[in-house]
Amino acid sequence: TKPVRVALLGCGTVGAEVVRLLHDQAADLTARIGAPIELAGIAVRRLGRDRGALPVGPAVFTTDPLGLVKRDDVDVVVEVVGGIEPARTWLVEALRAGKSVVTANKALLAEDGASLHDAAAEGGADLYYEAAVAGAIPLLRPLRESLHGDSVNRVTGIVNGTTNYILSAMDATGAGFAEALEQATELGYAEADPTADVEGFDAAAKGAILASLAFHTRVGAADVHREGITEVTAADVASAKAMGCTIKLLCIASRGPDAAGVDSVSVRVHPAMIPRTHPLAGVGDAFNAVFVEARAAGQLMFYGRGAGGAPTASAVLGDLVAVARNRLAGVRAASESAYAALPIRPMGEA
Ligand code: HSE
Repeated sequence: TKPVRVALLGCGTVGAEVVRLLHDQAADLTARIGAPIELAGIAVRRLGRDRGALPVGPAVFTTDPLGLVKRDDVDVVVEVVGGIEPARTWLVEALRAGKSVVTANKALLAEDGASLHDAAAEGGADLYYEAAVAGAIPLLRPLRESLHGDSVNRVTGIVNGTTNYILSAMDATGAGFAEALEQATELGYAEADPTADVEGFDAAAKGAILASLAFHTRVGAADVHREGITEVTAADVASAKAMGCTIKLLCIASRGPDAAGVDSVSVRVHPAMIPRTHPLAGVGDAFNAVFVEARAAGQLMFYGRGAGGAPTASAVLGDLVAVARNRLAGVRAASESAYAALPIRPMGEA
């Protein structure tokens, strides 16, 4: 059978792991898909950078992502670069041309998911992004497929590993925020610039994506009420403890009637005190967990590694298998571009 040809945009921690898994699991993937997956090219910012031992020759690398996306022999584009531009230009180009896209780009999806969904509908292409929220945890596919016959009322999640590591450390040791952040940085949990994590931007982007899928609507990053964890003190954690609670950075998305009875959505990210008996209270270290409440399904809990090269690559590969199978079958996933936007409930009415 003709191979499915993949353009990989980005070869950092996640991209390199995707390349390794594609190689190591080639036989299994071919059997599962019904055709082999071939890397048509890998777009990187700089050639010759040390990427560890990768099972590909130097000829596969290019510094021209748009040129690679436009190539006739490319069927699927996998993007693990991140950021709004130029990623949006590459992906819109691919989708409009009918090429399926797998992306981990939560910032772009939260900022302008509509452009991607519309381009996918226009080109008749698939757009999958399981890796954009909570890394390896299968979460978006259940929301967009398994629960589609149900009504999700609320999604409550710990969707940022860095802040969960910091808050868990504060809870365990009594350390203040600055001290716990320093420790998280030393251990490689927090990035050199932790702003997006500790100020809640990363969680807000994920919340927008989760709410859009859970409630069949369009929620953008700007619709999310956001407060980070920089103001949480050792004293706050101690008094929460005295009350049998712990403090977690929660993303809370809900759908229901507003004060006037209008069906609406609220999405917020902020530190919250939760009883130690709550299922999310025991989620320690840099783990992620998302608690979903649906009308018929009841309460569901998703738990696992929300970040890291291999867990994120696992989610990317799962999407790649799905879009490759769809291509061979000549079908595409249901479009999310048709979703109408529900009104956003103001804070205080949450
Ligand atoms: N910085 C993110 C986190 C990485 O800490 O969860 C995964 O998106």
